Amino acid sequence: MCGIIGVTGRSDAVECILGGLKRLEYRGYDSAGVVTADANDLDVVKRAGKLENLVRALDDNPLASQVGIGHTRWATHGEPNDRNAHPHTDPSGRVAVVHNGILENYQELKASLGDVRFASDTDSEVAAHLAARELERMDEPDLLLAVRRVVAQLRGAYSICFVAVDDPDTIVVAKHEAPLIVAHADGVGYCASDVAALIDHTRDVAALLDGQIARITPDGVDVMDVDGTPVEPHRFHVDWDLDAAEKQGYDHFMLKEIHEQPQAVADTLLDRLNAPPDGGPARLHLDEMRIDEHELARIDKVFILACGTSLHAGMIGKLAIEHWAGIPVDVEVASEFRYRDPIVDPHTLVIAISQSGETIDTIAAASHGRDQRAPVIALCNVVGSTLAREADGVLYTHAGPEIAVASTKAFTTQIVGCLLIGLYLAQVRGRMYASETEDILTRLQQIPAAIEQTLLLDGEVRELAERYQDTNYTMFIGRHAGLPIAMEGALKLKEISYLHAEAFPAGEMKHGPIALIEPGSLVVALAPAGHVFGKMVSNIQEVRARGASVLAIGTDGSTADLKEHAHHVLTLPEPPNELAGSVLSVIPLQLFSYHIATLRGEDVDQPRNLAKTVTVE
Ligand code: F6R
Repeated sequence: MCGIIGVTGRSDAVECILGGLKRLEYRGYDSAGVVTADANDLDVVKRAGKLENLVRALDDNPLASQVGIGHTRWATHGEPNDRNAHPHTDPSGRVAVVHNGILENYQELKASLGDVRFASDTDSEVAAHLAARELERMDEPDLLLAVRRVVAQLRGAYSICFVAVDDPDTIVVAKHEAPLIVAHADGVGYCASDVAALIDHTRDVAALLDGQIARITPDGVDVMDVDGTPVEPHRFHVDWDLDAAEKQGYDHFMLKEIHEQPQAVADTLLDRLNAPPDGGPARLHLDEMRIDEHELARIDKVFILACGTSLHAGMIGKLAIEHWAGIPVDVEVASEFRYRDPIVDPHTLVIAISQSGETIDTIAAASHGRDQRAPVIALCNVVGSTLAREADGVLYTHAGPEIAVASTKAFTTQIVGCLLIGLYLAQVRGRMYASETEDILTRLQQIPAAIEQTLLLDGEVRELAERYQDTNYTMFIGRHAGLPIAMEGALKLKEISYLHAEAFPAGEMKHGPIALIEPGSLVVALAPAGHVFGKMVSNIQEVRARGASVLAIGTDGSTADLKEHAHHVLTLPEPPNELAGSVLSVIPLQLFSYHIATLRGEDVDQPRNLAKTVTVE
């Protein structure tokens, strides 16, 4: 995720900014930059790659000022390169901006500026142009007023910071759905996306709330709403150590990432509908689609290729594409696909799913398909990664960097991505009215709130983990969308707790696996509301009759039967549709594995024998 630190009122502002960016490195980034301001001009230095590249560039071109803003970028729009690194300025160099988040209406805003040249491919740059235009219109230029006017036009998620030559001691910041902290200590004003960046300077900070804007000067911080009415941010004292600050108070990155899922899913769903200029119905779009819609309309078969957790998301993708777009789909382990002779032709679509975009098996499998002239869509979390670059079309999951080895937020955003691809293919094949697509997308917007609600199960899940922490073998069972979630639950438990766990289609139990059940076995049954619910209840009865303890995952309003047959029931909120429900059902399983592993004293974030990105076969 991008990082921000701004400083005003220190003679060593640039060193202070670089120190802050260093503290934010753990969040992951692909470029870094800094801007300093004085009454004559703004100076920007930015470089793709690691912070060392920026430091070297600043050694060659030292900047000295009391005011500046630094940024580490995790690309969402545009390749990770020097040009797209933040800060961005307007063409006259009057205003500079850094931004975390996604500006949903940036194309509309760009169009409103008329014939203006943009120096980057980012959504963020438009904010600098808009602020400069506002300043130009004022007899007495006022950066705060200009930013208030700009913010009133922004849609999407942002923590955004501006400096301008007109008001060189001042940093103006605004927040909506992306964190932003402000502080003032010893005649210095600060802002940052994360307390970790400020912890060396002050521990008394204030978190802006959505819709708040702050003017930061060496004299203090004024917080207001978009109309300029003074408002109170959330003030707090940081008593965590640095390690905890990087994890934002969570004990592990995995837990932090589990809790980031509402935001990650919201970001993945953001900005997906384009209203065409001719006023026709809004159309769903993918981020970088270089495949002609007519070509996609002729697709008669899909291969979804991935590894591990991403493969499980792909299994939901199969259900979505077959259901909405009516195309047959095979989901295959990437390392197997590449060594056989799959029947692929130009009417076959390959969808390659990878969080990192660097998994060698998935990259090689996708090129095996492309060699046979199949178009390739990548569903990827890392902008500009190898898979994304080589694919013909890309949908990014916008989960932000995932640091824990065990994948959590990447998985739930991949499921959402798969649903979007299913809807997109239905759209290009004319299988759905535009209003239907829009209706489904609107209902999907309920998922982040439903995840928040599901996370409230944490206390109950921990109690279950305490009870079952020494269970040597856990069987996960599910049907339909519950099966990939059962497989993901088993994988999570294996990966971080090193306990044996396996998943089976619940209907297969009687064909063999039920022989493993004996008194004391734990069976986790995925039984959310839906068309296979009744069958799952029968499967639960079968395993219970053979002595298993059953933990069932059900949905609010349909758990009466479960409570009768399972020993424990975790109740999920009602999802917007059956497939989207899989995003909710995996969350108690992520928490269950997490708690079991921590109770057993395992290294949750870096489990043995595993690497975050598997770049070798
Ligand atoms: C499990 C996990 C792995 C990855 C797999 C593919 O928690 O993280 O199974 O899902 O290595 O990685 P990507 O998605 O980066 O291709």
